[in-house]
Amino acid sequence: MSNVIINRAETSKIESVDFENLTFGNTFTDHMLVCDFRNGQWEQPVIQPYAPFLIDPSAKIFHYGQAIFEGMKAYKDEHDDVWLFRPDQNYDRFNKSAVRLAMPEIPEEVFIDGLKQLIQIEKEWVKKGNGNSLYIRPFMIAIGSGVIAAPSTQYRFMIILSPAKSYYSGEVKVIIAEHFSRAANGGIGAAKAAGNYSAQFYPTKLANEAGFQQIIWTDDATHTKLEEAGTMNVFFRINDTLYTAPTSERILDGVTRKSLIELAARENIKVEERSVLVAELVEAAENGTLKEIFGAGTAAVVNPIVGFSFQDKYHELPKIENSFALELKSKLTGIQRKELEDTFGWTVKV
Ligand code: COI
Repeated sequence: MSNVIINRAETSKIESVDFENLTFGNTFTDHMLVCDFRNGQWEQPVIQPYAPFLIDPSAKIFHYGQAIFEGMKAYKDEHDDVWLFRPDQNYDRFNKSAVRLAMPEIPEEVFIDGLKQLIQIEKEWVKKGNGNSLYIRPFMIAIGSGVIAAPSTQYRFMIILSPAKSYYSGEVKVIIAEHFSRAANGGIGAAKAAGNYSAQFYPTKLANEAGFQQIIWTDDATHTKLEEAGTMNVFFRINDTLYTAPTSERILDGVTRKSLIELAARENIKVEERSVLVAELVEAAENGTLKEIFGAGTAAVVNPIVGFSFQDKYHELPKIENSFALELKSKLTGIQRKELEDTFGWTVKV
């Protein structure tokens, strides 16, 4: 593998973008990185103008959903330097997902070095200030043709970039899953596989129609243990302890999740990684010991959940003064934007 080939766009669309009013994931920068896998090896990566491309209609991505992705963010500090947050974690997880979906692992120089070169070119798209970031979407799809149900021999790895503000614009209320499941033991729940997300669209649509933004998934076998929400891991604060489900074959090993656990420990907030039962949550809501629920994810950052519904009963959470969610969010985003000292060594300069 040699260096990245760069084909620059002739014009930029940046002047036409309203950076104050961005809808998450709808606006993309001028360039994208493309790297194909053929004949058993990765070809030279290319940074080229962002544009649609052709794939054979029989390609396995269309028929068998052989596709994985990552979600990352870049931030600009007050000196105009751009920083990535724990990119090694996304790189490792991407390759774990690749192995689980029988796809080739991507070399670090394509994923990390290619990403840094792409962001250098798109530096103007990373805006400074609270709430601003550049959302990074690396992904890989099976482009080999033929509808035989077997892994492809050809793949395309790509990185696209999208300037972002918040993922959720209003209050987030959730339904606890009683029937549908996100993942099962032995399945692909721990991989960031495209199908894990599309499988949630129908139950989430039903939840949206009932006035809820997300579902908190429960274990597929008994529906008694709280696991994760579709776009984020979940934390529950009962009295002054935070609980979050341990990672498993069913739960995504979230980078924000693991960072919050480390951050909370540093801030002397007690965190336990253990299964929380639905019955325990309902009881804590009823006896007043449930103080907070919040989601944690790259896109969603730290997102307070204002209430949950279970068996058609809605439980509103109390408004509290010393929110752990807000405290951890401000510490995490402070580190990401280089406003607070990064004692963990999480931030990596582009
Ligand atoms: C992310 O948080 O980056 C994710 O990948 C979740 C996605 C559904 C927006």
